[in-house]
This record gives sequence, structure tokens and C-alpha cells, in this order.
Amino acid sequence: MPAMDGDTKKGIYREVLRELDAALAGIEDPITAMSTCAAVLHQRLPYASWTGFYRVVAPRLLRVGPYQGPLGCLEIPFDRGVCGAAARGGTAQVVPDVHAFPGHIACDASARSEIVIPIRDPRGDLVAVLDLDSHGLASFDEHDRDGLEQVAERLRACLGGTGMAFYKSSTPAG
Ligand code: SME
Repeated sequence: MPAMDGDTKKGIYREVLRELDAALAGIEDPITAMSTCAAVLHQRLPYASWTGFYRVVAPRLLRVGPYQGPLGCLEIPFDRGVCGAAARGGTAQVVPDVHAFPGHIACDASARSEIVIPIRDPRGDLVAVLDLDSHGLASFDEHDRDGLEQVAERLRACLGGTGMAFYKSSTPAG
């Protein structure tokens, strides 16, 4: 799929945020919120082949959460993969060519590019990462990073409720 221009992406993320604002109002259940984000993003981003979450379930361990797409790897240690790099550093990872990323984990052999965004709860603790794969090279750019970081902010408000059963890391607040 050819790369999409910035204005088209901005329009898509405006719609994503509008839809999430309506759907997530008053929701304080992390599974409900993550499932809703994964569904909306996967439906609206034509270049996403896998869209979902890996949750921090133990010190330095991620386990798959709500997602859309083919079967994902179940667990990812912090020292592996693009997801591990995002969790370790607490920073977004935009990877134009996954074959050039040392340690990339190929859950889907057709994936060529990837973006991973840290997800924090209202206290600033890292609780998950949001991961998107694409079958196209360089499908994700700064427009996706901006849009997905805004999605992460919307999600943050939903992560303060009593449904937060998974481990909270001590990664410094970002
Ligand atoms: N490629 C990821 C693993 C998760 S799948 O893409 C769903 C990584 O390297 O962390």
C-alpha cells in the first residue's frame, strides 16, 4: 500500500479521536478501553495489519492484551523487540523497516514497518504499550506518532479505575 499523505492521516486521526471521545466517555475499565481503541484504530487505519496492546504484567515483562489482526506473540520481555524497546525507554518507537531493527520479533512474517507508543496510567506509571504493524515499508511517521500519542492520552483517563488488575511498573513518569 502506498504511503499516505500527512493531511489524510491528520483527518483520519481527527475521526479516531472524535469516535473515541464519544465511545470512552465515563469508561474506567482498561480492557473495555483498550479493546475499543484497538477496534477503532484498526478499522480506520487502512495500512495497519495488527493493532493492539501489550500490558506490563510483571517487572520487565509484557503480555498481549486486546488486539485486532492475526495471532500475536503472547509474551515479550522488556529486553526484546520493538515493544520491549518502547517499554524499556518509555519512548515511542517508529520503525520504517523492521528487518533493520535489531531484535525485532516477527509475529507476522509479512510485517514490514511498526510503531509502538508507551501507555501510562493517570499516575504516570507505564502500564502497557500500543503496537501497530503494517505490511508496507515506512507506513508510520510523525503524523501517526502524534495521533497515537493523543489516543494514549485519551486512554490514560480510562486507566484509573478498579479494573486495573495488571502489574504497575516503576518506570519513571513521562
Ligand atoms: N514486532 C513486535 C512484536 C509484537 S507483534 O508485532 C504483534 C516487536 O518486535 O516487539
